[in-house]
Amino acid sequence: MAKRLSNDVRELLMTAARRAANCAHAPYSGVRVGAAVLTGNDRLFVGCNVENASYGLTTCAERVAIQNAVAAGEKTIAAVAVFSPDIKCITPCGACRQVMAEFSSPASPGPLIIVEGKKGTETIPLGKLLPRAFCSPKNKKR
Ligand code: THU
Repeated sequence: MAKRLSNDVRELLMTAARRAANCAHAPYSGVRVGAAVLTGNDRLFVGCNVENASYGLTTCAERVAIQNAVAAGEKTIAAVAVFSPDIKCITPCGACRQVMAEFSSPASPGPLIIVEGKKGTETIPLGKLLPRAFCSPKNKKR
């Protein structure tokens, strides 16, 4: 089952994502992005995009946040908030969606993705953003 999130938790995640965007290293694109991950154990991790002069080495905010969570021992992601002060209605890129799928809990439509829509925050299950995600038979969680 996907975790149900209260409005307070959703706001807390979006606030953390907003704050994280201030740390973005985005001198090339000028697009600052922040992300906040809520893990299955109710822990919060943030990330920002980290660009590089060798453009292909850039890492998105969502993946940085997920990598922070995994490095702290958290392997299940319940929700991810993403925010950019530079792009209206930002949603996670395809690569980040696949990385989210790796750490979604079994038997759930995936983590809840929280984005700033035109009329406030919008919550979208990953299963809707990435239907029929590739999944390795070696991933014992799935
Ligand atoms: N970016 C993210 O951090 N997250 C996304 O979901 C989309 C794109 C970053 C990558 C790059 O630093 C900048 O936004 C422009 O593509």
